[in-house]
Amino acid sequence: MTNEGAVTYKGPERVFSGVQPTNGLHLGNYLGALVKFVALQERFKECIYCVVDLHAITADLDPKLLAGNTREVAAAFLAAGVDPTKSIIFVQSAVRQHTELTWIFNCVARMGWVQRMTQFKDKAGKHAERMSVGLFDYPVLMAADILAYKATHVPVGEDQTQHLELTRDIAQKFNNDFGAPGFFPLPEGLIQGPENEKYGARIMSLRDASKKMSKSDPSDQTRINLSDDADAIAHKIKKATTDPNPLPETVEGLAGRAEAENLVGIYAAVAGVSAADVLKEFGGKGFGTFKPALADLLVTKLGPIAGEMRRLMADPGSLDGILRQGAARAAAIAEPVLDDVRKIVGFWR
Ligand code: TRP
Repeated sequence: MTNEGAVTYKGPERVFSGVQPTNGLHLGNYLGALVKFVALQERFKECIYCVVDLHAITADLDPKLLAGNTREVAAAFLAAGVDPTKSIIFVQSAVRQHTELTWIFNCVARMGWVQRMTQFKDKAGKHAERMSVGLFDYPVLMAADILAYKATHVPVGEDQTQHLELTRDIAQKFNNDFGAPGFFPLPEGLIQGPENEKYGARIMSLRDASKKMSKSDPSDQTRINLSDDADAIAHKIKKATTDPNPLPETVEGLAGRAEAENLVGIYAAVAGVSAADVLKEFGGKGFGTFKPALADLLVTKLGPIAGEMRRLMADPGSLDGILRQGAARAAAIAEPVLDDVRKIVGFWR
């Protein structure tokens, strides 16, 4: 892994990713993150998956809901098939090294770099002065998440590519400024998106296929929640925006038909087949045939996951045990890294 004269990083390959505990996971999180997390367990020896509650408090959040939302995301990891004997699953605020490394990175990252982040600009709109310093600093905390473990591969959505570039800039500047060539890796993204099917589908709103499926959309009809029952799923798919034409026979025929492409993409991702396979079966058929088939598939696949999540949430003691063990394993990796960082920075020890 080299980058413009950077010394090659020689450490082991390691995957790190995080999901925010803002209430309610939806199909986009499931297909975009969880399914991919499960698949990566087979490809990489070390996968670390984090519920990023420190990031969550950059938005206004009810303290009474935070721990429950955190457990819910952890339960979703497990229900989707993340195996806590293979992967590390833990809660960000339970591992102090994240915040310590954030402070050090705050002194490495330049104002100009962080000011360029489009996600902050989008979230702040015209009111940047009224936003918390934490929201501004969000991507620096993300860099610390990744680099506290010297992670080399980071599965994320397309909207996080800029944050990953910042992570690489911070890693490189730290390595250069402190005379520690190759100390931090320059982590690579495993980006999901339309052009990169193998890292998971990009799932769009059911009502407007130009927007991502999102938990912040005011209309619940735009998304399938992991907690939706069979009736809700059937209703939302039935009402999903489409065009009047039958499905095409080939993937090329989906061009310019964003709504049709989204539903075919959802079917393919949930069934674990290609869009071409879906069109082999449904090409030439109308949405009157395709939508009920899609709803049935969703109910069959998501039902058991929702059930398993309920079972896990009903036994918070076991869930917390898994998370506590995960935090201990995470800290055992991060603490030696931080100990080297303290030495490199020159702190009294
Ligand atoms: N910002 C990420 C998102 O919204 C979540 C996140 C926080 C993350 N820390 C991370 C993702 C570290 C990957 C690695 O999707």
